[in-house]
Amino acid sequence: MRQERIKTSNAALDKEEMDWWDTNAGAIEKIWAMSFELQKIIRLPYLKEMKKFFTDNSEKASVKILEIGCGTGWVCRMIADENFHVLGTDFSKGQLAIAISEAKIYNKEKYCTYELADASSFPTDIDGVVIHALLHHLSSQELVFFFEKLKKIPKTTKVFIYEPVFVQKTGAMPSLTDKLLHKIITGLKSFCLNLANRKGIKDENLVITMNKIYEDAKNNGWYISPKEVPFYEAELNNYLENDYTVRKRYIVNKTDFDIAQSLVINKIYKPGFLFSNVLIPFASWLDKLSFKGNYTFYIAPQTHLFTCFELVRK
Ligand SMILES: C[S@@+](CC[C@H](N)C(=O)[O-])C[C@H]1O[C@@H](n2cnc3c(N)ncnc32)[C@H](O)[C@@H]1O
Repeated sequence: MRQERIKTSNAALDKEEMDWWDTNAGAIEKIWAMSFELQKIIRLPYLKEMKKFFTDNSEKASVKILEIGCGTGWVCRMIADENFHVLGTDFSKGQLAIAISEAKIYNKEKYCTYELADASSFPTDIDGVVIHALLHHLSSQELVFFFEKLKKIPKTTKVFIYEPVFVQKTGAMPSLTDKLLHKIITGLKSFCLNLANRKGIKDENLVITMNKIYEDAKNNGWYISPKEVPFYEAELNNYLENDYTVRKRYIVNKTDFDIAQSLVINKIYKPGFLFSNVLIPFASWLDKLSFKGNYTFYIAPQTHLFTCFELVRK
């Protein structure tokens, strides 16, 4: 399994990555982006926090946000409105076609526009940049280039990053609270997964595709897609520390994400009250509590967690 970032990419590898996306786009959209109802439960809380980061203390009535590598556009579309305008860019025509059509379906086309563009092209008249799960698909060389370009936008532009980051174990022993939280979270997760299995109907095609994706990754030495690998904390800091102050750093989408994925696997796209209002929010809350303690003790080596960074320029 790939553990280190690719130093430099090449045309063959880029094509392999593109082909992987073309082949697996449908399955990844299901298992990663998930349904609108699931997005509202597991994504909206941190996306609202992100929106606040961009709009708080802004003198403008409406901010203009650039979302780079927006894929099908769901991330910023969820929070787009008359005060939060989004320009989404991506190098995949197929993904953008979905983004454009979904903006219409969700009545957001007034606030969301899309352009085919490489990650290294930036308009200058923007108030904020959102990067949601894009950077870990780039090589080290591409990242250097990306951050150089990012520096060219006005200094007042805020940046939000959501990326998978390998958990760094502290070596410290868990406290009684850590132990208790771990026990409750593990029990809750297994209860939810069993309930999802019992209530739903297994999506056999999705299971087959996901198994094939993991099998291909294992055979080829990939993390999941050909180019991707989560960040090491120090590695990401290297790109950020000279030019940005980290206003806030927090982890999201751990147990709630696993539960939501098990619902998708069981074709439960619109979970009822119990999952939507009780079980998943409770899991997110417990995770949040656990992150205050020594949660890393219980995490297997080389596991990633989704980490959000609110950044302002120095
Ligand atoms: C993991 S997906 C994330 C999509 C979306 N932000 C989300 O979180 O669902 C990565 C996206 O980055 C796009 N991408 C990868 N490399 C890119 C590049 N060099 N320029 C522009 N888009 C790129 C892919 O087409 C894909 O839509």
